[in-house]
Amino acid sequence: MTQGLEQLENSGTHIPVLLEEFLKEVSPIEGNWLDGTFGAGGYSKALIAAGANKVIALDCDPEAKKQYCSLPNEYSEKIVFLASWFGNFDQKSEIQTYFPLNGVVLDLGVSSSQFDQSVRGFSLNKDGPLDMRMSQRGITAAELVNQYSESQLADLFYYYGEERAARKIARGIINERKNGPITSTLQLANLIKQFVPNSGKNKIHPATKSFMALRLVVNRELEQLEEGLHAAARVLRAGGILAIVTFNSLEDRIVKYFLNPKEERNRYFPHEEQKEFPFRVKNSKPIKPTAEEINRNPRARSAKLRVGIRNCIENELAMPSLLSRFRNKFV
Ligand SMILES: C[S@@+](CC[C@H](N)C(=O)[O-])C[C@H]1O[C@@H](n2cnc3c(N)ncnc32)[C@H](O)[C@@H]1O
Repeated sequence: MTQGLEQLENSGTHIPVLLEEFLKEVSPIEGNWLDGTFGAGGYSKALIAAGANKVIALDCDPEAKKQYCSLPNEYSEKIVFLASWFGNFDQKSEIQTYFPLNGVVLDLGVSSSQFDQSVRGFSLNKDGPLDMRMSQRGITAAELVNQYSESQLADLFYYYGEERAARKIARGIINERKNGPITSTLQLANLIKQFVPNSGKNKIHPATKSFMALRLVVNRELEQLEEGLHAAARVLRAGGILAIVTFNSLEDRIVKYFLNPKEERNRYFPHEEQKEFPFRVKNSKPIKPTAEEINRNPRARSAKLRVGIRNCIENELAMPSLLSRFRNKFV
């Protein structure tokens, strides 16, 4: 982990990533938007300032409500906040009156303030309980690490972390469990370090991929993403905008194929006559942060922004499920 990121971890302030690029891509901003990942409110505030009529803001973390409550009136009176996951958000009766939407934005992952508090259990560098729950409810990372079988752990690190040393790590965890449960972030990070070769030029912590895998499973992040994308497709008006900021290749692949399933046509869209898809991709290549932004905010380094415009199609086919290969493997 770079020095800059450690400083950011210590500051606890969330700096919105790719915000300027987002505003440029989705302008002019009008009507009702949904911000599914409110966090510290950076994107919601910017949407209001740029002309949105209302922003429906969701966040699964109860801490985000405090951020909303501290907003000046000029923002809070135009933001409708709901402490909720964004998956299948279209089914929430409290917000249905604001549909159809002009835009949906999801700025994925954890915020710097979640990352910074060691008690939340996301940090690789500060010791804390092995928790990783964004919503502060449900199954913890410690429960997965201490209860999964060796093959379940290996699959988790391989599929959700793309970690080559997945099998060795799983075996190491099973051995370590003979001495008692694994309960803290540093205990797990130091254990994983023994099994992941450090190439020297590789600046990231050797346990980064494994921690990401645990976090993705604890919070059902990929499943949430898929459910959120489908919900957006159901409630965006024709011409409406879907903008997603991803931070890892698994998330980015899901968004890429969702917006432009051409490459997956044979698998998911077997009907040759299907020429149009629910979204039109705004940029064929994802938008990435500038060197200047990465320098200012190292957390931005792996971010990618993809934007789609909702097409109006009669009798469109069902959208593809992109997570089928993971299904049935995990709780
Ligand atoms: C990267 S931060 C967003 C920061 C925000 N855009 C800003 O400018 O302050 C991600 C936030 O989304 C929340 N989150 C992540 N996945 C979520 C989901 N599936 N449903 C609801 N909230 C989610 C996290 O709790 C976190 O607060």
